[in-house]
Amino acid sequence: MKNTDYIINWLEKNLSAKRYSHSLGVAKTSLELAKMYNQDENKAYIAGLIHDCAKNFDDNELLKIIKTKIQSGYLECELKNPKVYHAIAGVYIAKNEFEIDDDEILNAIRNHTTGSPDMTTLDKIIFLADKIEPNTRDEKYSKKIRKLLEKNKGIIGLDLALLKCSCETIKSLIKRKLFICPATIDVYNALQESVGELLDED
Ligand SMILES: [Fe+2]
Ligand SMILES: [Fe+2]
Repeated sequence: MKNTDYIINWLEKNLSAKRYSHSLGVAKTSLELAKMYNQDENKAYIAGLIHDCAKNFDDNELLKIIKTKIQSGYLECELKNPKVYHAIAGVYIAKNEFEIDDDEILNAIRNHTTGSPDMTTLDKIIFLADKIEPNTRDEKYSKKIRKLLEKNKGIIGLDLALLKCSCETIKSLIKRKLFICPATIDVYNALQESVGELLDED
């Protein structure tokens, strides 16, 4: 794997200033959550740092990477929403540009946009850190999510926070008239089934 300085320099060059700041925020928050949930802190930091490495590539460029370099490991329906492209192509960049071969880090990048019903704790941490990092995300929203984590210790808190994010994401996708990947619905249903009863309405 390339060293952290190399990765940070690459991100600074290839991302917008806002996206770069977001990436540093996600890395920091992922590290903090990894400590809370006894996960590998270094893996969480790196996965958080690079989760959006492909975000500022042009949609056509991303699609070209997906169709010519990746060719498998994604569903045709995932290509209906261009917002998912960077998660799929991001894995390719992580492997080829940063020489990352750790499957846990690669899966966390892959799952950070749509989620997946069988997410690992690390996947969940990156997914959540992406929504609540302090540099670019809405403070009011982050506070709500953090409250859920504080009130509900352990993995249940993590799942409740994810369910809350899942509800908000689905609402926002509908509002923006965007395609909802089946994985996004599967995540919602899986969480609703396991912790739905514990989530307060608001
Ligand atoms: Fe992303
Ligand atoms: Fe992100």
